[in-house]
Amino acid sequence: MRVLQFDLSLQCRQMQDELHRVLDEVTGTGHFILGKNVKKLEEEIARYLGVRYGVGVASGSDALFLALLACGVKPGDEVITTAFTFFATAGSIARAGAVPVFVDIDPATYNLDVSQVESKITPQTRAVIPVHLYGQPADMEILMEVACKYGLAVVEDAAQAIGSAYGERKAGSFGRAGCLSFFPTKNLGGFGDGGMVVTDDPDVAEKVRMLRVHGAGKKYYHECLGYNSRLDELQAAFLRVRFPHLEAWTDARRERAVRYGELFRQKGLDQVVKEPYVAPGCLHVFNQYTVRAPFRDELRAFLAAHGVGTAVYYPIPMHLQPAFAYLNYRRGAFPEVERASAEVISLPLYPELTAQEQECVAGLIKKFYGRISGPAVESVNL
Ligand SMILES: Cc1ncc(COP(=O)(O)O)c(C=O)c1O
Repeated sequence: MRVLQFDLSLQCRQMQDELHRVLDEVTGTGHFILGKNVKKLEEEIARYLGVRYGVGVASGSDALFLALLACGVKPGDEVITTAFTFFATAGSIARAGAVPVFVDIDPATYNLDVSQVESKITPQTRAVIPVHLYGQPADMEILMEVACKYGLAVVEDAAQAIGSAYGERKAGSFGRAGCLSFFPTKNLGGFGDGGMVVTDDPDVAEKVRMLRVHGAGKKYYHECLGYNSRLDELQAAFLRVRFPHLEAWTDARRERAVRYGELFRQKGLDQVVKEPYVAPGCLHVFNQYTVRAPFRDELRAFLAAHGVGTAVYYPIPMHLQPAFAYLNYRRGAFPEVERASAEVISLPLYPELTAQEQECVAGLIKKFYGRISGPAVESVNL
């Protein structure tokens, strides 16, 4: 049996008729940039997240970059974030001319360790970016308290976490701005790149709206330097077809996450493979189902040889990326991040994944650990 890490073609096939209808509709209008579908999607997503404004942009990466600029981050400022994330989080800080300041992670949730944030604050600190990694919100209560105490802007990287919640509130709605990605593998994925900044702050919304069209408040009147970073009308129309299914897809992802846990316990793997920890009061939307596994790379190769796709998010921490060598971080600076980078593996998880496919994945993992000797596995302290 072949099990892909994700299979995007299944959902497309299910909604093919509707997608074709929308394609005809949008091409029929001849209006492809910032049309009615972008506006409607912005309203629909803002309402869903419980915020006042949504501003569609070209990608999740640009959502972060433009949100930082709109929050007043400028060259020389410092922005605190996790060293365990996709490059775009830290990259957006550097693109704004600011200095990324990294912190270690909580080894249970993989999200930034909020207890370390305060010690990194200097007079130059302007903002903090929590990343809701794999689909679980960071500890927003403590983080918001610290940010409030020091007057820092919080820009949430909710690229992997649309629909997740911390207590009663959805991720993306806590900070001055929240940033979403519609990259195809995200829980609400498009057919190409796309992103959105969500906010309650009218000034931030207005600034991002200007920045995405070369700094123009009114057409051809440019108040500041901006960029070309718009969400395509066609992309927005496709996303509006998909959006009503998001909650059902989230439920399906969560059910499959539970099923993996059951399978691991049934097969006696729960002492070997460390399943995701869901913090109390958090609703995890499992953009990724990520476990810690001894002999991770060997396991990955074994699964690949048997037709099972997996991924490692992320093999190189931000502080060890060549692009950030100028920041002069050393190996060992963030032990939990470095340990996670060496141990994590994301297993196949998407709403259409079948029980048989999950059984196959768990069965192969069992077979792998059965092959290597017990003491070797037990000696790895997870
Ligand atoms: C945590 C995180 N931040 C930012 C991004 C950037 O989003 P995009 O690929 O839409 O630019 C991604 C997506 O890959 C992500 O996973």
